[in-house]
Amino acid sequence: MRTPLVMGNWKLNGTKDSVTALVNALKEPANNAAGKAEVAVCAPAVFIGMVENLAQGSKLAWGSEDCDIHTSGAYTGENSPVMLREFGCTYAIVGHSERREYHKECSNYVAQKYQAAQQNGLIPVLCVGESEAEFDASKTMDVVREELKAVIDLCGIDSFKNAVIAYEPIWAIGTGKTATPEIAQKVHADIRAYLATFSQEVADGVRILYGGSCNAKTAPELFAQKDIDGGLVGGASLKADDFSAIIAAAVANA
Ligand code: 13P
Repeated sequence: MRTPLVMGNWKLNGTKDSVTALVNALKEPANNAAGKAEVAVCAPAVFIGMVENLAQGSKLAWGSEDCDIHTSGAYTGENSPVMLREFGCTYAIVGHSERREYHKECSNYVAQKYQAAQQNGLIPVLCVGESEAEFDASKTMDVVREELKAVIDLCGIDSFKNAVIAYEPIWAIGTGKTATPEIAQKVHADIRAYLATFSQEVADGVRILYGGSCNAKTAPELFAQKDIDGGLVGGASLKADDFSAIIAAAVANA
């Protein structure tokens, strides 16, 4: 039985005031969802200490949007998984398509981030997904398999017992174009089938979130799909009402 997870990815957004208001508004929906669905927000690193102070004692979990492969040292500008853990992070997103694209992060490097997160007590949220051209060329699973295989090669299939996968078709991110529930379900099922070639137990247990214009309107149908275990939400996670409605959709399908 997989507990749905609804996770916000704030990306490069927020002010002290907006973060305070948002976290305060999300504590009650997260507490009410407890036992049926889990709720988390992934914040820009500068806000993580604030989120920790605000969310502590509630059922709202928090995490980072990325993490470095090193735990400390001369790596200017990076965020160590040890430090993120010290500030109470449960999760670390790794391999988001915006980082793969803008920061030229390849799958092997993402796998090292996944490993560093996991070795230091964070649950990695591994993002996978294809571009529009790859989707049009029916290459979705070629891309996704390569992204998953890099992690399996470095960390082993059993590492997914303590990780989350987020399928985020790049063409659906921030575009308002959502993969139809049928398209998303098919890819999620294909991901599970691929993992099952290594371990049926891992394939059955791992949570696979959908991301890409997941919002209050699209979430109910997406979350009703058999292999979709919640969402990784960008834009709609910045608005307490919208995000609360997405949490409610996950609870309704739990
Ligand atoms: P949007 O929900 O804004 O499309 O972003 C999705 C995403 O990239 C979440 O990580």
